Amino acid sequence: MSKHHTPTSQPHCPDMRIFAPMQILDGKLVAQTVKESLKTKTAQHLAAGKKQPHLAAVLVGHDGASETYVASKVKNCEETGFKSTLIRLDTTATEAELVAVVEKLNQDTGIDGILVQLPLPKQINEDRIISLIDPQKDVDGFHPVSVGRMVQGLPSFIPATPYGILLLLEHYNIDTQGKHAVVIGRSNIVGRPISILLNRNSYPGNCTVTVCHSHTQNLAGICRQADIIVAALGRPGFLKADMVKEGAVVIDVGITRVPDPSKKSGYAIKGDVDFEAVAPKCSYITPVPGGVGLMTIAALMKNTLYACEQKNIIS
Ligand code: GUN
Repeated sequence: MSKHHTPTSQPHCPDMRIFAPMQILDGKLVAQTVKESLKTKTAQHLAAGKKQPHLAAVLVGHDGASETYVASKVKNCEETGFKSTLIRLDTTATEAELVAVVEKLNQDTGIDGILVQLPLPKQINEDRIISLIDPQKDVDGFHPVSVGRMVQGLPSFIPATPYGILLLLEHYNIDTQGKHAVVIGRSNIVGRPISILLNRNSYPGNCTVTVCHSHTQNLAGICRQADIIVAALGRPGFLKADMVKEGAVVIDVGITRVPDPSKKSGYAIKGDVDFEAVAPKCSYITPVPGGVGLMTIAALMKNTLYACEQKNIIS
């Protein structure tokens, strides 16, 4: 893959646009910067006699990807000076058992943030569990109160992956105003919230947003019109070079595990973007791994500190 795009400046070419070199949106670097700042704030917080931010993560079952994400969330909390508690339930846990865990965490004044890792086993109703989390502790931003407040532009917890994308765009000072953003995917975790956030009257925001999904007609044609593409559908290598306009900003949210015998783990993590082919056409692009995934954790921790600060204000 060539890192720099060659400008198309042939004298006979009627379209003589000069394109800037492609730049990688480095999630590792930006997440590290966010975490350093959180670490400093947490230390100041403690020095001022305030409580240590405390995140409780609940993991039901043994899904490999969920195990990895939750372990990473807990580890990052510890590195940043937060307290963390991991509560594990077996794959066969009942909905009543999980309800009891969430209710206990809601009542525990020492806990600032609660996250229940999704997906949950099929015997448990996810919507019911999400709605049960105290909105003041909803650091995932999935509770209907958080979603409603976000839609109305009120202060709220913003779901971690979309929040991480906004932090990346902001860090690289990417112009979003008046741009056409195409979001592929309409999940409650990424597609729908990022479409709302990019459309908000703020920075990053003020985009004209198109949300594509499995029933969208002429998806490739719509993507070709995009200044910004957020690929969040969970299909490795879905976004091809002929679906991307020259100079577009491409955000890859995909993190699918695909078998790879050359890896010790036996799998590789693949994004939704055919990176090698797409990257030379972009102004900015996120890699996988090393892009949005790391930002998700940094954003979750920002939400946790926010939850803790709010509590310090109230109490
Ligand atoms: N599963 C995939 N992404 C997420 C996330 O951001 N939060 C939770 N709780 N579960 C997830």
